Order: sequence, then C-alpha cells, then structure tokens
Amino acid sequence: MKLITALVQPHRLQKVKDELFKANVTKMTMNNVHGCGQQSGYNETYRGLVHEVNLMPKVRIEIAVNENFVKPAIEAIIKGARTGKIGDGKIFITELAEVVRIRTGEKGNKAIG
Ligand SMILES: Nc1ncnc2c1ncn2[C@@H]1O[C@H](COP(=O)(O)OP(=O)(O)OP(=O)(O)O)[C@@H](O)[C@H]1O
Ligand SMILES: [Mg+2]
Repeated sequence: MKLITALVQPHRLQKVKDELFKANVTKMTMNNVHGCGQQSGYNETYRGLVHEVNLMPKVRIEIAVNENFVKPAIEAIIKGARTGKIGDGKIFITELAEVVRIRTGEKGNKAIG
C-alpha cells in the first residue's frame, strides 16, 4: 500500500478529480494549503496575477491506494494537473504501513478500498 500526497494548483482541482474518478480512484482527502517549491513561490501566477508573497495557494490531495492503483492514480493526477508552467505541483509517494477501518476493525487491503 502507498500513500500518495499531491500538491496541485487550485484551479486544476476539478480536472484532477475528474481524471481520478475516470481511473476509478474515488477515495481521497483534500485540503487547502499554502506552499512553495523551487521558485520559493516568487513568479508563480495565481488567478492571473504574479504574486509577491512567497507562499502560494495549493490543494493538497491524499490518497491511500493498493499497489495496482499507484500508477493509474499518479498518471491521473499528472493528466489533470499539468499545464507545463512552473508551480504545477508535486507528488510524494510513501510506503503505507497499515490502514484500519474503525467501524469494522478491518485492516490492510480490506480496509483501504
Ligand atoms: N520539497 C518539498 N517539500 C515540501 N513541499 C514541497 C516541496 N516541493 C514542493 N512542495 C509543495 O508543492 C507545491 C508545488 O510545488 P511546485 O510545483 O512549485 O514545485 P517545483 O519543484 O518548484 O516545480 P516547478 O519548477 O515546476 O514549479 C509547493 O507550493 C509546495 O507546497
Ligand atoms: Mg515551483
């Protein structure tokens, strides 16, 4: 199991969700965050404006998946989020040691999906 954490541009969120749903990835957590990458936020645009503050609005998406969904999920995120410009985002993939569904006590592959 893996935990996929993606930082994407807010205006691409709908496209990312559409692509994830097409790839049958339907469980996710999202929140609004602020961050900066290798430009330290400078020169990135948001709503058509070049921002002078260094922390740019991003959407953080967390998806826990079984191994067979890792590649499709990553491809879907890229397809939905990429514009080719700086600030398009980043995807972090980490090993996920365990998942527990609280209601039933199910664990691992049974709990994740
Ligand atoms: N090394 C990092 N650690 C934690 N968060 C990061 C890291 N790199 C990027 N981020 C997060 O990802 C968001 C998007 O990063 P961004 O797309 O600007 O990456 P980048 O490496 O600067 O690539 P690009 O040159 O395409 O802009 C940042 O605003 C920040 O929230
Ligand atoms: Mg950047």
